[in-house]
Amino acid sequence: MTSGTASRMAEDYDSVYSENDAVFGANECPLLQKCADFLPEGARVLDLGVGQGRNALPLARRGCQVTGIDTSQVAVDTVNRIAAEENLPLTALLQDFLTYEPDRSFDAVLCFGLMQVQDLAGCASLVERLHQWTRPGGALFLTTWHLEDPSFDRLCKEWERRSGRSFRSPDGDANRLFLEKGEILKLFFRWEVIHHWEGLGKLHKHGLGKRERHGEVEAVLTRPKK
Ligand SMILES: C[S@@+](CC[C@H](N)C(=O)[O-])C[C@H]1O[C@@H](n2cnc3c(N)ncnc32)[C@H](O)[C@@H]1O
Repeated sequence: MTSGTASRMAEDYDSVYSENDAVFGANECPLLQKCADFLPEGARVLDLGVGQGRNALPLARRGCQVTGIDTSQVAVDTVNRIAAEENLPLTALLQDFLTYEPDRSFDAVLCFGLMQVQDLAGCASLVERLHQWTRPGGALFLTTWHLEDPSFDRLCKEWERRSGRSFRSPDGDANRLFLEKGEILKLFFRWEVIHHWEGLGKLHKHGLGKRERHGEVEAVLTRPKK
């Protein structure tokens, strides 16, 4: 992704987060509830693209030591303000995952809704970093979109198609990427599969936007111990 695209995308997220305090929902992703065994009190968790903290905040309230990163200043400020008010073990950092350098790996890494807004190169870097930043035996929680997403045909007509499954918006400010069926398991092929689901997600709205649904990929995987 060019730095221009990245900074315009950050400005876009700043503006939507300023207008609505639960853009991606007020509740934590149900996957976190289902696989809570991998997130015990004290677990070190990295939330990539922390957004408004809908996942990071509940984990910190349960005693996980959470680091969140995001390129949106509004996101980072919001999460840090709530964490300070509640005295939570949670720090949000204004960081791009492409240049972030944590000093050690994590017991669990969350990657909710970040992969589908990358271009192909960004996705490849993200996968590499997910391998590095999840400790051996640690867990990765990930959601993204697959090729049967209902927006795919519209993007083929209205956006610039950069490969079979990646698109750039006409103003150049946003990317969309769709995984092939089962691709997530190939990208993490030695990892143990705790949960894997692909299908059509529920209808939902972001703020005042239109009702939409997505071809969703959900995965909870653990990195091999060696
Ligand atoms: C679709 S939102 C999902 C937010 C949150 N994970 C959730 O589930 O509510 C994607 C988030 O990733 C952030 N983001 C996009 N590109 C990023 C990058 N290169 N590094 C860090 N954060 C990024 C955006 O600012 C945005 O907050």
